[in-house]
Amino acid sequence: MLSFLIPALLLLVGCAAVLSYVLALHAATTAYDRSLLDPALDMAENVRLGANGPQLDMLAQEQEALLYDHEDTLVFQIRDGAGDLIAGVPDLAPAPPLAPGQRAFFDVTYNGKPLRIAAVRAATGFTVQVGETLNKRSRLVREILAAEFLPTVLIALASLALARTVVAHGIAPLARVRSQILARSPHDLRPLDERNAPLEIAPAIEAFNHLLSQLRDSNAVQQRFLTNAAHQLRTPLAALQMHLELLLRRELPSDVHQEIEAMHGATTRATRLANQLLILAKAEASMEQARPKTLVNLRSLADAAVHEWVPRAIAREVDLGFDLADASVWGDAVLLTESLNNLIDNALRYTPPGGAATVRCGVRSPTAYFSVEDSGPGIPQWAHERVFERFFRIQGTVGDGAGLGLAIVREVAEQHGAHVTIENPTGLGTRITVVFAAVTPEVPR
Ligand SMILES: Nc1ncnc2c1ncn2[C@@H]1O[C@H](COP(=O)(O)OP(=O)(O)OP(=O)(O)O)[C@@H](O)[C@H]1O
Ligand SMILES: [Mg+2]
Repeated sequence: MLSFLIPALLLLVGCAAVLSYVLALHAATTAYDRSLLDPALDMAENVRLGANGPQLDMLAQEQEALLYDHEDTLVFQIRDGAGDLIAGVPDLAPAPPLAPGQRAFFDVTYNGKPLRIAAVRAATGFTVQVGETLNKRSRLVREILAAEFLPTVLIALASLALARTVVAHGIAPLARVRSQILARSPHDLRPLDERNAPLEIAPAIEAFNHLLSQLRDSNAVQQRFLTNAAHQLRTPLAALQMHLELLLRRELPSDVHQEIEAMHGATTRATRLANQLLILAKAEASMEQARPKTLVNLRSLADAAVHEWVPRAIAREVDLGFDLADASVWGDAVLLTESLNNLIDNALRYTPPGGAATVRCGVRSPTAYFSVEDSGPGIPQWAHERVFERFFRIQGTVGDGAGLGLAIVREVAEQHGAHVTIENPTGLGTRITVVFAAVTPEVPR
């Protein structure tokens, strides 16, 4: 709007200036032409036919008084009907032919200067011209212009300021909608608030909300499909695993035993993958719905998780420790446990035997957090963002994970309004922390 208004206003001011100039010039010209005519008429009346032909019957002092002006220089010239000079300056061009009694005003150049001429043809046939320089006319034009132009410019500036304020005020609700959209996570497809939207953009918000609702529907379909697929996979995989375990208990030739063990390992991985996909689908699904509203104490959650992982830590020869303090958040205990499990799994999996891993949780006012740190190889700086992508693994990483663990951690964190940070503290390998924005004072036991 402003980029249209500013040039338009400048154009208007320009047009007003030109118009003011033309009008001012016209006013100055008519006013001074009238007073220039008086000496011309006076002189015309004083031309008489004497013994030596026609002559101006006027004393030099009278002429001087008649032609005196404190701003401009005046000259005159009188010619007879044949065009011969009777009195006045000789080098002024003769006036254009005039009818007896006719008056005319025109511009000429005299001695290199512009001159305004009033010419009168007397009934007796003489033509009197009185010319005057343009000083007072130009001054008057300047004065009129200043008097008109300044207010015009002031009004234009005031209009611009007003337009700016009005535009800024008008688009403020738009800015609110913009920040609402920018603050969203890509998974948050809830409709935008239409109530405070200005009338002009309400239809756009409505259309946008319609699109969001379509996206929600299509997301729901995809999630249902993913959940069903993962769910359907789990049953035959469980059966397969059970059969393989039964087979492994039998007396088998060693090569067959080895093959079946490999099959069992692959089945375990496939089951884990199906479970991870289910968790991801669940985390995404609860993102769409209202926030889960269970008060979860991170301490009891972490305590249970650590105890579950102790056998695995012993097997991996990693010293699994913990440092837990009460910290309550509103959330989904199942998803938070999954998230923590993935962090502990990584710490135990990627820390070489003999290393250590520590699980922590607590409150750093005004936030609550849980973190898992280990003495492993650390995650290189360049991969700090990428490790959260689905199916991303750093090349050369040991083990056979799918690359979904940290994706789940971030998804669950986002769903809880929390954020995940990766650090490589000196002397340690990796520390991954999930920080929750708000802490509730009461602590459920
Ligand atoms: N504690 C850690 N120490 C060193 N590297 C890590 C650590 N945690 C994660 N990484 C790196 O980040 C990558 C991604 O981790 P993520 O947990 O998402 O997948 P994954 O462990 O490979 O597979 P999944 O968890 O699905 O079984 C890992 O492959 C590994 O390279
Ligand atoms: Mg992992």
